[in-house]
Amino acid sequence: MASLTIRKLDEAVKAYLRLRSAGNGRSVEEEVRVILGDLIQGRPETPGPPQTPSPAEAAPRHRGPVPASGSSRVTLIIGGGIAAYKALDLIRRLKERHVRVRCVLTAAAQKFVTPLAASALSNERCYTDLFDPGSEFDAGHIRLARECDLIVVAPATADLMAKMAQGHADDLATAILLAADKPILLAPAMNPLMWNNPATRRNVAQLARDGVATIGPNAGEMAEAGEAGVGRMAEPTQIATAAEQILKPAKPQPLKGKHVLITAGPTHEPIDPVRYIANRSSGKQGFAIAAAAQAAGAAVTLISGPVDLDDPAGVDVRHVESAREMLAQVEAALPADIAVFAAAVADWRVASEGAQKLKKTGAGIPPLQLTENPDILATISKLRETRPPLVIGFAAETEHLIDNATAKFARKGCDWIVANDVSPATGVMGGDRNTVHLLTRGRDGGVDVDSWPVMTKEQVAAALIDRIASHIKSSPA
Ligand code: C5P
Repeated sequence: MASLTIRKLDEAVKAYLRLRSAGNGRSVEEEVRVILGDLIQGRPETPGPPQTPSPAEAAPRHRGPVPASGSSRVTLIIGGGIAAYKALDLIRRLKERHVRVRCVLTAAAQKFVTPLAASALSNERCYTDLFDPGSEFDAGHIRLARECDLIVVAPATADLMAKMAQGHADDLATAILLAADKPILLAPAMNPLMWNNPATRRNVAQLARDGVATIGPNAGEMAEAGEAGVGRMAEPTQIATAAEQILKPAKPQPLKGKHVLITAGPTHEPIDPVRYIANRSSGKQGFAIAAAAQAAGAAVTLISGPVDLDDPAGVDVRHVESAREMLAQVEAALPADIAVFAAAVADWRVASEGAQKLKKTGAGIPPLQLTENPDILATISKLRETRPPLVIGFAAETEHLIDNATAKFARKGCDWIVANDVSPATGVMGGDRNTVHLLTRGRDGGVDVDSWPVMTKEQVAAALIDRIASHIKSSPA
């Protein structure tokens, strides 16, 4: 113990000399107190001067499990917005996934959350100042940018994104982002008017071109009373999952360089401004296919009818209501290498939509004259120059599954059909599992039916993407 104490005292004196030569004002007594305090309480050694936190920012040292060495590291930049409180939960969600988190708070973020809270939750020192002598004489912003595997910005405010798009570096957060050679994931959060402002649209597009990944924002209620729209920060679990995806060791990406176009969900066909015709499709299968295609390296455009699902990370999602809007978005998204039409598109719409809410007039029930919707799958299958080389349709049937799907196959002109039984007893509509049969054209010109076992919709999606990947590999370019 005595020899250990002498060694520690010796270290304290050396630390003092280092600090004095670096111009740091900490006293030798303070340094000795910290080092001896650690020794007496049996705590691991205090890191050297550049890492030593000021008392206000000190994290409780080594509380809870220490992340395994070799675990992923995230520098989390917390921007100044009301969603900053959710960034504290994000720290926990990342740590649950065995990710080490180092937090950086902008000046505005500190109006909403404290460095102490971020330190306590991350169990690491929290950084706030570009000109902090405790870290900056060691090029702190460069270290924070480099000593990590991913930089997450949550909430990413409109101002922070504008600065990033322009390459500003006037505080610690922007200096880190400019010095970064690691992937960056933004979780934007702002008022819908700010999100939709042309300036923000330009900045978002520029950042996407610069290779910056984005998760959210989601649609929903705003902090401002009575305001709603797209601008809510993605939920911490969504951000943590997106971060995990980026941190995962690179998996084979058989669809890299391919553009996959997917439709999903139901359509809503308006009767009047308040009523519509809909169906029970949840969109889960189409969303799972979009996520699986994205994980396989494809650039994915997902055109979705109204659903209650979060947008899959890294996917370009376009939200529509009616079949005609869906067709317009599909046509706008071409060209594509693969198109998967999983949407339950309404076959009919009301011939003349009421401009005002239909009223009970006493003249009897109003007749609803229906007219046929465009068949998106058939339209795209029949294209000449811009027809995707692989077009896949779905056949959701409640009876004579294979016979009906085979007839549909011929009628629609697509290359494959995924047939599934959606009769209420199966629980497929809105459920999490699916039993599908893949119909392809056999060498003899007949139809080959490959029946898959009951699987979750994610497993069906992964199996379909595998089939697509092997088809692409075996087809001439
Ligand atoms: O004719 P049915 O609706 O059963 O056909 C199902 C397939 O056709 C699905 O792939 C669906 O996405 C697609 N479809 C379409 N446009 C329509 C109707 C169906 O793309 N109007």
